[in-house]
Amino acid sequence: MMDAVSNIKIEKTKTSKIQSVDFNNIQFGKQFSDHMFVAEYKNGEWQDLRIEPYAPISLSPACAAIHYGQAVFEGMKAYKNDEGKVLLFRPRENAKRINVSAKRLCMPEVPEELFMDAIHQLVQLDADWVPQNEGCSLYIRPFIFASEELLGVRPAEEYKFMIITSPVSSYYTGPVDVKIESNFSRAAEGGVGFAKAAGNYAAALYPAKLGQEKGYKQLIWTDAKTHEYIEESGTMNVMFLIDNKLITPSIALNTTLSGITRDSVIKLAKDLGLEVEERRVAVKEIVEAARNNKLQDAFGTGTAATIAQIASITFEDERFELPPIENRTVSNKIAKSIEEIKRGRVADKFDWIYNI
Ligand code: COI
Repeated sequence: MMDAVSNIKIEKTKTSKIQSVDFNNIQFGKQFSDHMFVAEYKNGEWQDLRIEPYAPISLSPACAAIHYGQAVFEGMKAYKNDEGKVLLFRPRENAKRINVSAKRLCMPEVPEELFMDAIHQLVQLDADWVPQNEGCSLYIRPFIFASEELLGVRPAEEYKFMIITSPVSSYYTGPVDVKIESNFSRAAEGGVGFAKAAGNYAAALYPAKLGQEKGYKQLIWTDAKTHEYIEESGTMNVMFLIDNKLITPSIALNTTLSGITRDSVIKLAKDLGLEVEERRVAVKEIVEAARNNKLQDAFGTGTAATIAQIASITFEDERFELPPIENRTVSNKIAKSIEEIKRGRVADKFDWIYNI
């Protein structure tokens, strides 16, 4: 529990929408809980902190975020344990990361305690919206965007920091078919690939759509310079198991997101006694391993899906089917372990759980 450190005004809704939600049939990000958090950045400080009924907001058509893309976001989840208590998973990591993103896009940072307090109070107020069903959670979406009415190209002077929440079930319905992308790029060295910037997701849509038209759920992104090294899979970090070693692209080049699930999986894998290599991962190496039936497992890691197992990988004209899901001991074990930690069913030895 934390004491409120910020002066957040709360206006409760008069009519909850919760009865209209079928919690057994939820689509990702289509329904939103009763309340949202809003703060305004003006004259160099965050002010007018408030929680109010979830509703459309009014913006100038010249709002800088719409024109020049100063917008960053976070994704995190609240879970219910078996006693119905609400738990968050590593929320301080999101508080830190939104500021890494904000800094890169020349936006004001949000004090960590303000971020934590806003999440805490909002989730506490909408605690009934946190689903208890297995695999379900309340997805929390904090975001900052330039709200100044401004067509000049310079860092805006006015911003909004908002948090909305949405009950969700699993992101993917099953293992995914992916294709290694060798033409388009998601990010380049020196760019904003490491930031959770709205524009990164926009840039990925068209190549992803071309892939989807050919039956691939996601793309495996490669480096912009040579397309010889693997970076991410769709909106997730990616990991491979070869010779019982867990191999994942290093985040040192700043072209990939520093995933919180990625970090958690690495720590859990090491805890299971697995060797983990964070380094450049060549396309050639993964393709060779797949050709020789040495690719034991491959999966994406992210907040939305947690672990998304990869069913097949296509590179140019070759398609490699990966081992059956029931044989994927490592990803199955880690997925189960993360779920149990998030639901407070096992000892929290890494100190990852935050109680609401
Ligand atoms: C995640 O996997 O957590 C993501 O970032 C996907 C999200 C944009 C829906």
